[in-house]
Amino acid sequence: MLARYFKPSVLQEIAAKAGTPVYVYSAAVFIKQTAAYKKAFRALDPLFCYAMKANSNGALCALAAGQGFGADVVSGGELYRALRAGFEPGKIIFSGVGKTPDELEYALRTGLLFVNAESFEEVQALERAAAKLKKTAPFSLRINPDVDPHTHRFIATGKLGSKFGVSFEEAEKIYMYAAGSEHLKPVGAQFHIGSQVHSAGPYAMAAGRLAAFILKLASRGVNLVYADVGGGWGVREGSEMSDLAPLARAIAGVFQGTGLKVVLEPGRSIAAPSGALLTRVLYRKRGGSKNFIVVDAAMNDLVRPALYGAKHPVALLGAARGPLKKYDIVGPVCESGDFLAKGVPLPEPRNGDLLLIYSAGAYGFSMSSQYNSRPRAAEALITGASWRLVRRRETYKDLVAAEL
Ligand code: LLP
Repeated sequence: MLARYFKPSVLQEIAAKAGTPVYVYSAAVFIKQTAAYKKAFRALDPLFCYAMKANSNGALCALAAGQGFGADVVSGGELYRALRAGFEPGKIIFSGVGKTPDELEYALRTGLLFVNAESFEEVQALERAAAKLKKTAPFSLRINPDVDPHTHRFIATGKLGSKFGVSFEEAEKIYMYAAGSEHLKPVGAQFHIGSQVHSAGPYAMAAGRLAAFILKLASRGVNLVYADVGGGWGVREGSEMSDLAPLARAIAGVFQGTGLKVVLEPGRSIAAPSGALLTRVLYRKRGGSKNFIVVDAAMNDLVRPALYGAKHPVALLGAARGPLKKYDIVGPVCESGDFLAKGVPLPEPRNGDLLLIYSAGAYGFSMSSQYNSRPRAAEALITGASWRLVRRRETYKDLVAAEL
Protein backbone atom coordinates (compact mmCIF):
# COMPACT_ATOMS: atom_id res chain seq x y z
CA MET A 1 0.00 0.00 0.00
CA LEU A 2 0.91 3.62 -0.26
CA ALA A 3 1.82 4.01 3.41
CA ARG A 4 5.30 2.61 2.85
CA TYR A 5 6.13 5.55 0.59
CA PHE A 6 5.00 8.05 3.21
CA LYS A 7 6.90 7.04 6.33
CA PRO A 8 5.67 8.57 9.61
CA SER A 9 9.20 9.59 10.64
CA VAL A 10 9.73 11.52 7.39
CA LEU A 11 6.28 13.08 7.59
CA GLN A 12 6.88 14.17 11.20
CA GLU A 13 10.07 15.84 10.10
CA ILE A 14 8.43 17.56 7.12
CA ALA A 15 5.63 18.85 9.35
CA ALA A 16 8.10 20.10 11.94
CA LYS A 17 10.32 21.88 9.41
CA ALA A 18 7.88 22.98 6.71
CA GLY A 19 4.76 23.41 8.83
CA THR A 20 1.28 22.22 7.93
CA PRO A 21 -0.78 21.96 5.83
CA VAL A 22 1.77 20.64 3.38
CA TYR A 23 1.46 18.49 0.27
CA VAL A 24 3.94 15.63 0.29
CA TYR A 25 4.86 13.83 -2.90
CA SER A 26 6.72 10.59 -3.43
CA ALA A 27 9.09 10.63 -6.40
CA ALA A 28 9.17 6.83 -6.25
CA VAL A 29 5.41 6.50 -6.71
CA PHE A 30 5.34 9.11 -9.48
CA ILE A 31 8.08 7.32 -11.41
CA LYS A 32 6.46 3.95 -10.75
CA GLN A 33 3.27 5.18 -12.40
CA THR A 34 5.06 6.51 -15.48
CA ALA A 35 6.88 3.17 -15.75
CA ALA A 36 3.56 1.32 -15.42
CA TYR A 37 2.21 3.25 -18.41
CA LYS A 38 5.28 2.47 -20.49
CA LYS A 39 5.06 -1.20 -19.62
CA ALA A 40 1.33 -1.59 -20.21
CA PHE A 41 1.51 0.15 -23.59
CA ARG A 42 4.89 -1.17 -24.77
CA ALA A 43 3.41 -2.89 -27.83
CA LEU A 44 2.09 0.45 -29.10
CA ASP A 45 5.02 2.69 -28.15
CA PRO A 46 2.76 5.74 -27.80
CA LEU A 47 3.69 9.28 -26.88
CA PHE A 48 2.66 10.01 -23.29
CA CYS A 49 1.81 13.63 -22.63
CA TYR A 50 1.46 14.18 -18.89
CA ALA A 51 -1.69 16.25 -18.26
CA MET A 52 -0.15 19.03 -16.23
CA LYS A 53 -3.44 20.28 -14.84
CA ALA A 54 -3.36 17.34 -12.43
CA ASN A 55 -0.24 18.70 -10.79
CA SER A 56 1.98 21.28 -12.43
CA ASN A 57 4.68 21.56 -9.78
CA GLY A 58 7.98 21.89 -11.66
CA ALA A 59 9.68 19.14 -9.67
CA LEU A 60 7.03 16.55 -10.60
CA CYS A 61 6.92 17.75 -14.21
CA ALA A 62 10.70 17.39 -14.38
CA LEU A 63 10.32 13.78 -13.24
CA ALA A 64 7.79 13.16 -16.04
CA ALA A 65 10.06 14.83 -18.60
CA GLY A 66 12.95 12.71 -17.33
CA GLN A 67 10.91 9.59 -18.07
CA GLY A 68 10.57 10.69 -21.69
CA PHE A 69 7.04 12.01 -21.27
CA GLY A 70 5.74 15.00 -23.14
CA ALA A 71 3.15 17.37 -21.70
CA ASP A 72 -0.50 18.14 -22.30
CA VAL A 73 -1.05 21.79 -21.43
CA VAL A 74 -4.30 23.75 -21.35
CA SER A 75 -3.17 27.34 -20.96
CA GLY A 76 -0.30 29.67 -21.72
CA GLY A 77 0.62 29.37 -18.06
CA GLU A 78 0.93 25.60 -18.25
CA LEU A 79 2.92 25.91 -21.47
CA TYR A 80 5.30 28.26 -19.66
CA ARG A 81 5.63 25.80 -16.79
CA ALA A 82 6.12 22.88 -19.20
CA LEU A 83 9.05 24.55 -20.95
CA ARG A 84 10.54 25.61 -17.65
CA ALA A 85 10.30 22.05 -16.29
CA GLY A 86 12.23 20.71 -19.27
CA PHE A 87 9.61 19.09 -21.49
CA GLU A 88 10.79 19.02 -25.11
CA PRO A 89 8.66 21.43 -27.17
CA GLY A 90 8.25 18.72 -29.80
CA LYS A 91 6.43 16.59 -27.21
CA ILE A 92 4.03 19.28 -25.98
CA ILE A 93 0.40 19.40 -27.06
CA PHE A 94 -1.98 22.23 -26.23
CA SER A 95 -5.59 21.32 -25.40
CA GLY A 96 -8.55 23.31 -24.12
CA VAL A 97 -11.75 24.77 -25.45
CA GLY A 98 -10.89 28.48 -25.38
CA LYS A 99 -7.30 29.32 -26.28
CA THR A 100 -6.75 33.03 -26.84
CA PRO A 101 -4.97 34.46 -29.90
CA ASP A 102 -2.01 35.31 -27.64
CA GLU A 103 -1.84 31.75 -26.34
CA LEU A 104 -2.00 30.35 -29.87
CA GLU A 105 0.88 32.59 -30.99
CA TYR A 106 2.90 31.66 -27.93
CA ALA A 107 2.29 27.99 -28.69
CA LEU A 108 3.34 28.29 -32.31
CA ARG A 109 6.51 30.15 -31.36
CA THR A 110 7.58 27.28 -29.09
CA GLY A 111 7.44 24.73 -31.92
CA LEU A 112 5.08 22.41 -30.05
CA LEU A 113 3.89 19.09 -31.48
CA PHE A 114 0.32 20.18 -32.14
CA VAL A 115 -2.59 22.24 -30.92
CA ASN A 116 -5.78 20.35 -30.06
CA ALA A 117 -8.43 22.67 -31.47
CA GLU A 118 -12.04 22.45 -30.39
CA SER A 119 -14.06 24.53 -32.87
CA PHE A 120 -13.99 25.86 -36.41
CA GLU A 121 -13.57 29.39 -35.09
CA GLU A 122 -10.59 28.32 -33.03
CA VAL A 123 -9.00 26.69 -36.09
CA GLN A 124 -9.47 29.97 -37.92
CA ALA A 125 -7.84 31.85 -35.02
CA LEU A 126 -4.96 29.38 -35.20
CA GLU A 127 -4.69 30.00 -38.94
CA ARG A 128 -4.50 33.76 -38.34
CA ALA A 129 -1.85 33.31 -35.65
CA ALA A 130 0.19 31.10 -37.98
CA ALA A 131 -0.16 33.54 -40.87
CA LYS A 132 1.02 36.38 -38.65
CA LEU A 133 4.10 34.38 -37.67
CA LYS A 134 4.59 33.10 -41.24
CA LYS A 135 4.31 29.53 -40.00
CA THR A 136 2.22 26.47 -40.61
CA ALA A 137 0.29 25.36 -37.53
CA PRO A 138 0.19 21.61 -36.79
CA PHE A 139 -3.15 20.82 -35.27
CA SER A 140 -5.45 18.06 -34.19
CA LEU A 141 -9.18 18.35 -33.65
CA ARG A 142 -10.83 17.29 -30.46
CA ILE A 143 -13.76 15.22 -31.54
CA ASN A 144 -16.67 14.45 -29.31
CA PRO A 145 -17.21 10.71 -29.81
CA ASP A 146 -20.57 10.75 -28.00
CA VAL A 147 -19.82 8.01 -25.50
CA ASP A 148 -20.81 7.91 -21.86
CA PRO A 149 -17.80 7.41 -19.58
CA HIS A 150 -19.96 6.79 -16.47
CA THR A 151 -18.24 9.26 -14.18
CA HIS A 152 -19.17 12.33 -12.11
CA ARG A 153 -21.16 14.73 -14.28
CA PHE A 154 -18.68 17.58 -13.71
CA ILE A 155 -15.87 15.55 -15.26
CA ALA A 156 -17.70 13.71 -18.06
CA THR A 157 -16.82 15.30 -21.37
CA GLY A 158 -17.38 12.83 -24.17
CA LYS A 159 -21.14 13.08 -24.72
CA LEU A 160 -22.66 15.34 -27.33
CA GLY A 161 -24.11 18.34 -25.57
CA SER A 162 -20.97 18.97 -23.52
CA LYS A 163 -18.94 22.05 -24.40
CA PHE A 164 -16.03 19.94 -25.58
CA GLY A 165 -14.93 19.04 -29.07
CA VAL A 166 -16.80 18.93 -32.36
CA SER A 167 -18.92 16.23 -33.95
CA PHE A 168 -17.48 13.89 -36.57
CA GLU A 169 -19.48 15.66 -39.31
CA GLU A 170 -18.17 19.03 -38.34
CA ALA A 171 -14.65 17.72 -37.92
CA GLU A 172 -14.68 16.43 -41.48
CA LYS A 173 -15.59 19.85 -42.79
CA ILE A 174 -12.88 21.51 -40.71
CA TYR A 175 -10.19 19.09 -41.90
CA MET A 176 -11.18 19.69 -45.52
CA TYR A 177 -11.00 23.44 -44.95
CA ALA A 178 -7.57 23.07 -43.33
CA ALA A 179 -6.31 20.90 -46.17
CA GLY A 180 -6.73 23.90 -48.42
CA SER A 181 -4.96 26.37 -46.12
CA GLU A 182 -1.28 27.18 -46.41
CA HIS A 183 -1.04 27.96 -42.70
CA LEU A 184 -2.74 24.87 -41.29
CA LYS A 185 -1.46 21.32 -41.14
CA PRO A 186 -3.89 18.67 -39.88
CA VAL A 187 -1.77 16.07 -38.08
CA GLY A 188 -4.06 14.36 -35.61
CA ALA A 189 -7.46 13.68 -34.14
CA GLN A 190 -8.23 13.48 -30.45
CA PHE A 191 -10.89 12.57 -27.94
CA HIS A 192 -10.98 12.86 -24.18
CA ILE A 193 -14.09 11.29 -22.74
CA GLY A 194 -13.79 12.35 -19.11
CA SER A 195 -11.88 11.78 -15.92
CA GLN A 196 -12.08 9.09 -13.22
CA VAL A 197 -13.16 6.57 -15.86
CA HIS A 198 -12.93 3.03 -14.53
CA SER A 199 -13.92 0.88 -17.44
CA ALA A 200 -12.20 0.43 -20.78
CA GLY A 201 -15.42 -0.09 -22.73
CA PRO A 202 -16.05 3.60 -23.44
CA TYR A 203 -12.43 3.96 -24.63
CA ALA A 204 -12.75 1.01 -27.00
CA MET A 205 -15.94 2.49 -28.41
CA ALA A 206 -14.52 5.99 -28.82
CA ALA A 207 -11.24 4.67 -30.27
CA GLY A 208 -13.12 2.55 -32.80
CA ARG A 209 -15.10 5.57 -33.94
CA LEU A 210 -11.96 7.70 -34.15
CA ALA A 211 -10.07 5.08 -36.16
CA ALA A 212 -12.92 4.71 -38.65
CA PHE A 213 -13.07 8.46 -39.02
CA ILE A 214 -9.32 8.75 -39.60
CA LEU A 215 -9.60 6.11 -42.35
CA LYS A 216 -12.45 8.00 -43.97
CA LEU A 217 -10.41 11.19 -43.92
CA ALA A 218 -7.50 9.39 -45.56
CA SER A 219 -9.84 8.37 -48.37
CA ARG A 220 -10.49 12.08 -48.88
CA GLY A 221 -6.77 12.84 -49.04
CA VAL A 222 -6.18 14.01 -45.46
CA ASN A 223 -3.63 11.74 -43.83
CA LEU A 224 -3.31 12.10 -40.09
CA VAL A 225 -0.32 10.92 -38.08
CA TYR A 226 -1.58 11.02 -34.49
CA ALA A 227 -4.53 9.36 -32.78
CA ASP A 228 -4.85 11.01 -29.36
CA VAL A 229 -7.03 9.15 -26.89
CA GLY A 230 -6.86 11.73 -24.09
CA GLY A 231 -6.48 10.89 -20.43
CA GLY A 232 -9.00 10.05 -17.77
CA TRP A 233 -8.12 6.59 -16.50
CA GLY A 234 -9.41 6.44 -12.96
CA VAL A 235 -7.82 5.88 -9.62
CA ARG A 236 -9.60 4.11 -6.80
CA GLU A 237 -8.83 6.59 -4.10
CA GLY A 238 -6.30 5.12 -1.74
CA SER A 239 -5.07 2.34 -3.96
CA GLU A 240 -1.66 2.59 -5.52
CA MET A 241 -2.45 2.28 -9.16
CA SER A 242 -5.39 1.25 -11.17
CA ASP A 243 -4.73 -1.65 -13.48
CA LEU A 244 -3.74 -0.24 -16.85
CA ALA A 245 -3.99 -3.51 -18.75
CA PRO A 246 -7.68 -3.17 -19.76
CA LEU A 247 -7.08 0.35 -21.06
CA ALA A 248 -3.98 -0.75 -23.00
CA ARG A 249 -5.87 -3.68 -24.50
CA ALA A 250 -8.75 -1.46 -25.60
CA ILE A 251 -6.46 1.12 -27.24
CA ALA A 252 -4.03 -1.37 -28.79
CA GLY A 253 -6.95 -3.46 -30.01
CA VAL A 254 -7.99 -0.57 -32.21
CA PHE A 255 -4.76 1.13 -33.20
CA GLN A 256 -2.09 -1.55 -33.34
CA GLY A 257 -0.94 -2.08 -36.90
CA THR A 258 -2.66 1.06 -38.22
CA GLY A 259 0.60 2.99 -38.50
CA LEU A 260 -0.90 5.79 -36.42
CA LYS A 261 1.14 7.19 -33.54
CA VAL A 262 -1.03 6.96 -30.44
CA VAL A 263 -0.90 9.81 -27.92
CA LEU A 264 -2.15 9.49 -24.32
CA GLU A 265 -2.71 12.31 -21.84
CA PRO A 266 -2.73 10.75 -18.38
CA GLY A 267 -2.84 13.07 -15.39
CA ARG A 268 -4.61 11.73 -12.32
CA SER A 269 -3.48 8.12 -12.62
CA ILE A 270 0.13 9.28 -12.35
CA ALA A 271 -0.14 12.15 -9.90
CA ALA A 272 -2.96 11.15 -7.52
CA PRO A 273 -1.29 8.26 -5.70
CA SER A 274 2.02 10.15 -5.66
CA GLY A 275 0.76 12.78 -3.26
CA ALA A 276 -0.91 13.23 0.11
CA LEU A 277 -1.97 16.21 2.14
CA LEU A 278 -0.45 16.39 5.60
CA THR A 279 -2.47 18.37 8.10
CA ARG A 280 -2.46 18.89 11.85
CA VAL A 281 -5.34 18.45 14.27
CA LEU A 282 -6.32 21.80 15.78
CA TYR A 283 -9.39 20.96 17.82
CA ARG A 284 -11.94 18.27 18.51
CA LYS A 285 -15.58 18.99 19.07
CA ARG A 286 -19.01 17.46 18.99
CA GLY A 287 -21.98 18.79 17.04
CA GLY A 288 -25.25 16.97 17.53
CA SER A 289 -24.42 13.31 17.11
CA LYS A 290 -21.25 14.05 15.19
CA ASN A 291 -17.60 14.04 16.13
CA PHE A 292 -15.62 16.71 14.37
CA ILE A 293 -11.89 17.00 13.95
CA VAL A 294 -10.93 20.53 13.00
CA VAL A 295 -7.65 20.49 11.08
CA ASP A 296 -5.44 23.22 9.61
CA ALA A 297 -6.12 22.21 5.98
CA ALA A 298 -9.35 23.25 4.32
CA MET A 299 -11.35 23.24 1.10
CA ASN A 300 -9.06 25.93 -0.30
CA ASP A 301 -6.24 23.36 -0.08
CA LEU A 302 -8.23 20.35 -1.30
CA VAL A 303 -11.57 21.11 -2.89
CA ARG A 304 -12.33 17.66 -4.31
CA PRO A 305 -14.47 16.37 -1.41
CA ALA A 306 -16.66 19.49 -1.55
CA LEU A 307 -16.81 19.72 -5.33
CA TYR A 308 -17.12 16.10 -6.44
CA GLY A 309 -17.95 14.25 -3.26
CA ALA A 310 -14.52 12.63 -3.53
CA LYS A 311 -13.61 10.26 -0.71
CA HIS A 312 -9.96 10.51 0.12
CA PRO A 313 -8.66 7.93 2.59
CA VAL A 314 -7.39 9.43 5.84
CA ALA A 315 -4.79 8.04 8.22
CA LEU A 316 -3.88 9.21 11.69
CA LEU A 317 -0.11 9.20 11.95
CA GLY A 318 1.47 6.91 14.46
CA ALA A 319 -1.91 5.82 15.73
CA ALA A 320 -2.86 2.43 16.97
CA ARG A 321 -4.54 3.49 20.17
CA GLY A 322 -8.07 3.08 21.34
CA PRO A 323 -11.31 2.08 19.71
CA LEU A 324 -12.41 3.55 16.39
CA LYS A 325 -14.99 6.32 16.21
CA LYS A 326 -16.46 8.03 13.18
CA TYR A 327 -15.24 11.53 12.50
CA ASP A 328 -15.95 14.34 10.10
CA ILE A 329 -12.71 16.08 9.23
CA VAL A 330 -13.30 19.75 8.63
CA GLY A 331 -11.22 22.85 8.01
CA PRO A 332 -11.24 26.45 9.23
CA VAL A 333 -13.04 27.90 6.17
CA CYS A 334 -16.38 29.52 6.84
CA GLU A 335 -18.58 27.19 4.80
CA SER A 336 -20.43 24.02 5.65
CA GLY A 337 -19.00 22.61 2.43
CA ASP A 338 -15.57 22.83 3.98
CA PHE A 339 -14.86 19.22 4.79
CA LEU A 340 -12.05 16.91 3.81
CA ALA A 341 -13.73 13.66 4.77
CA LYS A 342 -16.96 12.57 6.40
CA GLY A 343 -17.68 9.68 8.72
CA VAL A 344 -14.19 8.20 8.65
CA PRO A 345 -13.40 5.62 11.34
CA LEU A 346 -10.29 6.66 13.28
CA PRO A 347 -8.85 6.17 16.73
CA GLU A 348 -9.40 9.32 18.75
CA PRO A 349 -6.75 11.84 17.76
CA ARG A 350 -5.07 14.28 20.14
CA ASN A 351 -4.57 17.94 19.47
CA GLY A 352 -1.45 18.40 17.41
CA ASP A 353 -1.59 14.93 15.84
CA LEU A 354 -0.95 14.65 12.14
CA LEU A 355 -3.46 13.35 9.61
CA LEU A 356 -2.51 12.20 6.15
CA ILE A 357 -5.06 12.53 3.36
CA TYR A 358 -4.17 10.13 0.56
CA SER A 359 -4.65 10.24 -3.20
CA ALA A 360 -4.31 13.99 -3.15
CA GLY A 361 -1.42 14.37 -5.61
CA ALA A 362 -3.78 15.12 -8.51
CA TYR A 363 -6.13 18.10 -8.58
CA GLY A 364 -5.14 18.88 -5.01
CA PHE A 365 -2.62 21.69 -5.00
CA SER A 366 -3.40 22.54 -8.64
CA MET A 367 -7.00 23.39 -7.69
CA SER A 368 -6.08 25.13 -4.46
CA SER A 369 -6.91 28.77 -3.85
CA GLN A 370 -6.39 31.51 -1.31
CA TYR A 371 -10.05 31.54 -0.32
CA ASN A 372 -10.56 33.09 3.12
CA SER A 373 -7.14 34.69 2.53
CA ARG A 374 -5.40 31.50 3.43
CA PRO A 375 -1.88 31.37 1.99
CA ARG A 376 -1.43 28.28 -0.16
CA ALA A 377 0.24 25.23 1.39
CA ALA A 378 3.85 24.25 0.91
CA GLU A 379 4.83 21.25 -1.21
CA ALA A 380 7.56 18.74 -0.38
CA LEU A 381 9.04 15.94 -2.46
CA ILE A 382 10.31 12.73 -0.89
CA THR A 383 13.12 11.10 -2.85
CA GLY A 384 14.58 7.95 -1.35
CA ALA A 385 15.28 8.61 2.32
CA SER A 386 15.42 12.39 1.94
CA TRP A 387 12.99 15.15 1.13
CA ARG A 388 13.05 18.77 0.05
CA LEU A 389 10.64 21.62 -0.29
CA VAL A 390 9.54 22.07 -3.90
CA ARG A 391 7.30 25.04 -3.16
CA ARG A 392 7.48 27.24 -0.13
CA ARG A 393 4.40 28.08 1.90
CA GLU A 394 2.85 31.35 0.76
CA THR A 395 3.04 34.29 3.13
CA TYR A 396 0.56 37.02 3.99
CA LYS A 397 2.56 39.28 1.70
CA ASP A 398 1.96 36.85 -1.16
CA LEU A 399 -1.75 37.33 -0.59
CA VAL A 400 -1.55 41.00 -1.55
CA ALA A 401 1.50 40.93 -3.81
CA ALA A 402 -0.47 41.48 -7.02
CA GLU A 403 -2.86 44.10 -5.65
CA LEU A 404 -2.37 47.67 -6.87
N1 LLP B 1 -6.66 15.62 -21.34
C1 LLP B 1 -7.65 16.52 -21.31
C2 LLP B 1 -8.01 17.22 -22.53
C3 LLP B 1 -8.32 16.78 -20.10
O1 LLP B 1 -9.30 17.67 -20.07
C4 LLP B 1 -7.94 16.09 -18.92
C5 LLP B 1 -8.61 16.35 -17.64
C6 LLP B 1 -6.88 15.16 -19.01
C7 LLP B 1 -6.27 14.94 -20.24
C8 LLP B 1 -6.38 14.40 -17.81
O2 LLP B 1 -7.34 13.58 -17.27
P1 LLP B 1 -6.95 12.61 -16.05
O3 LLP B 1 -6.03 11.55 -16.60
O4 LLP B 1 -6.26 13.44 -15.05
O5 LLP B 1 -8.23 12.08 -15.57
N2 LLP B 1 -10.63 18.33 -11.26
C9 LLP B 1 -11.22 17.04 -11.50
C10 LLP B 1 -10.67 16.40 -12.75
C11 LLP B 1 -10.83 17.25 -13.97
C12 LLP B 1 -10.24 16.64 -15.21
C13 LLP B 1 -10.22 17.61 -16.33
N3 LLP B 1 -9.59 17.15 -17.51
C14 LLP B 1 -11.01 16.15 -10.27
O6 LLP B 1 -10.41 16.62 -9.30
O7 LLP B 1 -11.49 15.02 -10.23
